[in-house]
Amino acid sequence: MPHLVNIVSHAQKMLTEILQPGDLAVDLTAGNGSDTMFLAEIVGPTGRVIAFDIQEQALAVTAEKLKQAGVAVVRADNLEEPFAETGVTLVTASHESLSEYLDSPVKGIIANLGYLPGGDMNIVTRPESTVAALNHSTSALAIGGRLAVVVYPSHPGGAEESGAVNALFESLPLKRWNVLRIEVPNSSAAPYLLVAEKR
Ligand SMILES: C[S@@+](CC[C@H](N)C(=O)[O-])C[C@H]1O[C@@H](n2cnc3c(N)ncnc32)[C@H](O)[C@@H]1O
Repeated sequence: MPHLVNIVSHAQKMLTEILQPGDLAVDLTAGNGSDTMFLAEIVGPTGRVIAFDIQEQALAVTAEKLKQAGVAVVRADNLEEPFAETGVTLVTASHESLSEYLDSPVKGIIANLGYLPGGDMNIVTRPESTVAALNHSTSALAIGGRLAVVVYPSHPGGAEESGAVNALFESLPLKRWNVLRIEVPNSSAAPYLLVAEKR
């Protein structure tokens, strides 16, 4: 995809601007692991990444990708299992349980909604759990932290989810939030990016 309209790369750029080595970052939708890997590289060996997915298949691919790159990975399938103090913790759970897994404010959060590329298109992010996860995310962000969400409006159910996510971002009070949207205005089916920065 040409760089200008590659919305995922814009999402990553928004987090590159604020994340530093040693930070805590979250990937709400690990999928095939590209965003998790991106976050792990920026926060480095002294930082922490927590990544969620409901599909075991996705987390297996993500874990392998990270291991190949020499990134420390821990799997935590429930709250009893220990989390990594540094490196990446992969959680097999819905991102709506985010707040149960956090013990400190988060600097950067990324979500790439929709279905797993190459996977089952029926396993898809859904408005209710997405909105719950994004509400937890806005609470969990550190001052100066950013939440970047790539929204896909064109798959079945996508329009409903995109409406709910738009409403959430539009409701963030201007006094406490800088909010940005990056879109492809000549393609209504294209994904777009919403970013919220806590002031
Ligand atoms: C577009 S993919 C993510 C792509 C990924 N960020 C990457 O870099 O490859 C969306 C992912 O969200 C996952 N997902 C769907 N509902 C979820 C939920 N409630 N909680 C966590 N992950 C979910 C799907 O299983 C799928 O792997």
